[in-house]
Amino acid sequence: MTKSHALTVALCLFAFNVLPISAQNLTEDQTSNVISRLAQSAMHPWELGTRAQALLEHDVRQFSVFSLTIPPSSIPSNTTSAIAPVFSIATGVVKNRAESNVNITGPQPLVADSSAGDPASIGPAVLLANWTNLGDGVDYAGAALDQLNFLYDKVPHTSDGAISHRTDVLQLWSDFVYMVPPFLAYYGLLTNNQTLLTDAYTQISLYRKYLRDTTANNLWEHIVLGNGSEVANDPGHWSTGNAWAAAGMLRVLATIQASPFSSDMSSQRNDLANWVSEIHDAMYPHLNTTTNLFYNYADDMSTFLDAASTALLASTVYRLSLLRSVHTHLPTAEKCRKTLFSSNSSGLVHFSSDGWLTPVVNPDSFGNEGSDSPESEAFVVELQAAWTDWVNAGSQGANGALRLGPVNSFIILVAALFMSMLLV
Ligand SMILES: *[C@@H]1O[C@H](CO)[C@@H](O)[C@H](O)[C@H]1NC(C)=O
Ligand SMILES: *[C@@H]1O[C@H](CO)[C@@H](O)[C@H](O)[C@H]1NC(C)=O
Ligand SMILES: *[C@@H]1O[C@H](CO)[C@@H](O)[C@H](O)[C@H]1NC(C)=O
Ligand SMILES: *[C@@H]1O[C@H](CO)[C@@H](O)[C@H](O)[C@H]1NC(C)=O
Ligand SMILES: *[C@@H]1O[C@H](CO)[C@@H](O)[C@H](O)[C@H]1NC(C)=O
Ligand SMILES: *[C@@H]1O[C@H](CO)[C@@H](O)[C@H](O)[C@H]1NC(C)=O
Ligand SMILES: *[C@@H]1O[C@H](CO)[C@@H](O)[C@H](O)[C@H]1NC(C)=O
Ligand SMILES: *[C@@H]1O[C@H](CO)[C@@H](O)[C@H](O)[C@H]1NC(C)=O
Repeated sequence: MTKSHALTVALCLFAFNVLPISAQNLTEDQTSNVISRLAQSAMHPWELGTRAQALLEHDVRQFSVFSLTIPPSSIPSNTTSAIAPVFSIATGVVKNRAESNVNITGPQPLVADSSAGDPASIGPAVLLANWTNLGDGVDYAGAALDQLNFLYDKVPHTSDGAISHRTDVLQLWSDFVYMVPPFLAYYGLLTNNQTLLTDAYTQISLYRKYLRDTTANNLWEHIVLGNGSEVANDPGHWSTGNAWAAAGMLRVLATIQASPFSSDMSSQRNDLANWVSEIHDAMYPHLNTTTNLFYNYADDMSTFLDAASTALLASTVYRLSLLRSVHTHLPTAEKCRKTLFSSNSSGLVHFSSDGWLTPVVNPDSFGNEGSDSPESEAFVVELQAAWTDWVNAGSQGANGALRLGPVNSFIILVAALFMSMLLV
């Protein structure tokens, strides 16, 4: 290395690690448009659960599992209005439970549905309503317990214990990983029950066993088992399904990390982090690098391009970076995010004028392109939240390598300058 080379390297390292990263960003109006579209459109159980989670992550960070602490048991006054929509989901669902389940008592889902997994996605909001003691006389704890027991006692399981994503047939969907394990884990966190935290991990491990396709470099299949009487199997590598799985794993990882059992469960945390990376490593080579979007089926270029899965998976890259300092795919996630949030002279390129992400898969017909997708709006909110948290934490690893932080970078700069003085 010559003197000038050493100097250049030192300056580049320093710049990479301390200078701010330029960024496309949604304005407050644009974000609130997306949040309004989400509010007006989320109806299905999984949409309600995903909306609640997105709102916690974006608007009430203290109460999201990604804050890595057990949430406070009372609502600070500056948070009342931000958290109100989350409670309104919980209250509406629990109050309607008897009607939905035709007055049965005992184990029952929060909402009667052909999916066994989807209603459980509302569970964390219901548990939070109980935890913060809303004082409205609604039995949130009872509803959560019935939902839990329904999953354990009423829903079909594989012989090795994987809980079905469907009520009538034993069928496993990648979507399940976002709907059920985060509920089990949150239940375990708030009731100080390590068995439930472990069960959340075990369900993910079982789903990975069934859905991971080692012949496709570890992409996950979408739907296996079942007899096809309701929904046919879908062995394709559905991009949104891969993103659901990674995002669910990260919520469980964060929940374990917020619990008193965190150090006891370090091997489970390591597995979860590795399994998220495994999905990232499987998915990102298939990104269409002209558009920075995934195909609806990741490795099938004949399928349409989909911004929904692109948004959700990018959010998981920031979350993995924040939770585990794994920055491998950050430069790609940044490209995806900048593309999704880019504007031209007529406005945002990937949103309609009233705030719908586009192009997106139809969430009610996963092989087809759709429009006005509620879940895609939640994914945008989660992406914005994860990216914001990552920026606030110092944008670690924006260049994909271990980011060193200003102090270490400064030490390296001084050392490199010193070395360059020794060279002739
Ligand atoms: C992004 O924009 C929002 C306003 O919508 C602003 O509050 C936030 O600070 C911006 N973030 C960054 C990192 O520029
Ligand atoms: C409420 O105030 C706390 C403490 O100042 C702050 O950390 C939190 O972000 C605020 N929450 C909201 C939703 O503004
Ligand atoms: C459920 O119970 C309510 C209140 O007791 C009653 O009005 C309603 O008819 C019952 N519904 C069914 C389907 O039995
Ligand atoms: C409900 O909240 C109470 C009071 O915080 C707590 O003791 C109980 O464990 C909670 N129940 C569930 C199911 O989370
Ligand atoms: C923890 O949860 C499991 C599963 O619901 C339950 O069987 C067990 O009794 C709980 N343990 C405690 C200490 O509450
Ligand atoms: C599939 O399973 C359902 C529910 O168990 C059953 O009613 C139906 O007859 C089965 N169909 C076939 C083709 O086996
Ligand atoms: C990416 O998608 C665009 C638009 O559909 C297409 O023209 C292009 O060929 C694709 N690029 C690759 C590398 O597949
Ligand atoms: C801006 O982007 C949109 C969406 O890609 C496109 O339809 C429109 O023609 C572009 N407008 C300009 C002025 O480039």
